[in-house]
Amino acid sequence: MAIEQAVARILCVVGARPNFMKIAPIMRAFNAPGSGLQASLVHTGQHYDAAMKHAFFEQLHIPEPDVDLGVGSGTHAEQTAQIMLKFEPVLDAQRPTAVLVVGDVNSTIACALVAVKKGIPVVHVEAGLRSGDRAMPEEINRILTDQLSDLLFTTEASAADNLEREGISRDKVHFVGNVMIDTLHYNLASATPSAHTLAEAGAGFTQGYGLMTLHRPSNVDDAPVLRRLLTELAEISRETPLVFPVHPRTRARISDAGLDTLLDDASILLLPPQGYLEMLGLMRDARMVLTDSGGIQEETTALGVPCITLRESTERPITVTQGTNTIVGTDATAIRKAYREVMEVGGKAGRQPEHWDGHAAERIATVLARCFASGRAA
Ligand code: UD1
Repeated sequence: MAIEQAVARILCVVGARPNFMKIAPIMRAFNAPGSGLQASLVHTGQHYDAAMKHAFFEQLHIPEPDVDLGVGSGTHAEQTAQIMLKFEPVLDAQRPTAVLVVGDVNSTIACALVAVKKGIPVVHVEAGLRSGDRAMPEEINRILTDQLSDLLFTTEASAADNLEREGISRDKVHFVGNVMIDTLHYNLASATPSAHTLAEAGAGFTQGYGLMTLHRPSNVDDAPVLRRLLTELAEISRETPLVFPVHPRTRARISDAGLDTLLDDASILLLPPQGYLEMLGLMRDARMVLTDSGGIQEETTALGVPCITLRESTERPITVTQGTNTIVGTDATAIRKAYREVMEVGGKAGRQPEHWDGHAAERIATVLARCFASGRAA
């Protein structure tokens, strides 16, 4: 008679674009034969457009979600509340061994809060990152999710110190590396060459370009800041053409603030949000990247491409101390100075942070299997 193995059932949650590249290697590792784990997937529907969701599921071979809560957009309170209301019956029906959340978006905190109050252990991947800026909605989501979590997986050493400072026991914390970089290694050979993406878009250049992204509320919801940034980036583009995949939030704010004309005579190629493989190719081949994204700071470090971060702080300090990242804020002179440094000396060389080696998700699977097999309440 076959001996039945106890399998821990992990309900994984995704909601927004940056979650998708984190969940792909986790689902793969959990569902590998002999892992001792079985993963199911809930998509909250926070991001829903084809360009913001479907392209990622397809390209990253993420299994279609078992459940899509279909919450869509709203204010923070509306979105968080809707996710909580719709997630609760799913948990009641599935009663998983644990709920796993990734990153710092509204879906992360909403699902963690529902699970913990039902006595279901919460696992947080990408725990302990802190920008120190509580005006960022993500910072609130990070702090609260970590407080609710039973197992916390970190990407860099600073995270454990942050968690200890907030009273979280080191026993719960495991330094495993970066699942987003797992996805980068796994897909790099299949990245869409930038020349292809640029030719399709009718660009008059194929190399020597900078890649820019902007979507943080602090940069795009504040019209004077957005005007200042776009004015400086337009100026840079007159020397180095810029490629700008525009987030839906940003597109709306540019037109609300009447700033479209700023881009008229600039050499900035506006693109719709890009798929993962297109973006990876654009990043890999760029001379530099100018961004306010968190994930892109890490991806450029992994790729060895200079990154100029248009924010006052970062929750990912290892990208500055070991990687290719320079934090410049939104001051035009500071942006210009960092840009000139890249043009003249090529920017920071950087090195690969520890455990950013493509195997973080496997480490997570090993820890989870061990914790649940040993009967620990995670
Ligand atoms: C969210 C995350 C942010 C992450 C970003 C990546 C939170 C608090 N913020 O911000 O951390 O860096 O995702 O994109 O969770 N919209 C669409 N189509 C979509 C999704 C959104 O058009 O598929 C538009 C809607 O007008 C919406 C706006 O974008 O109101 C903002 O979307 P939302 O999910 O509220 O926040 P993001 O700015 O995307």
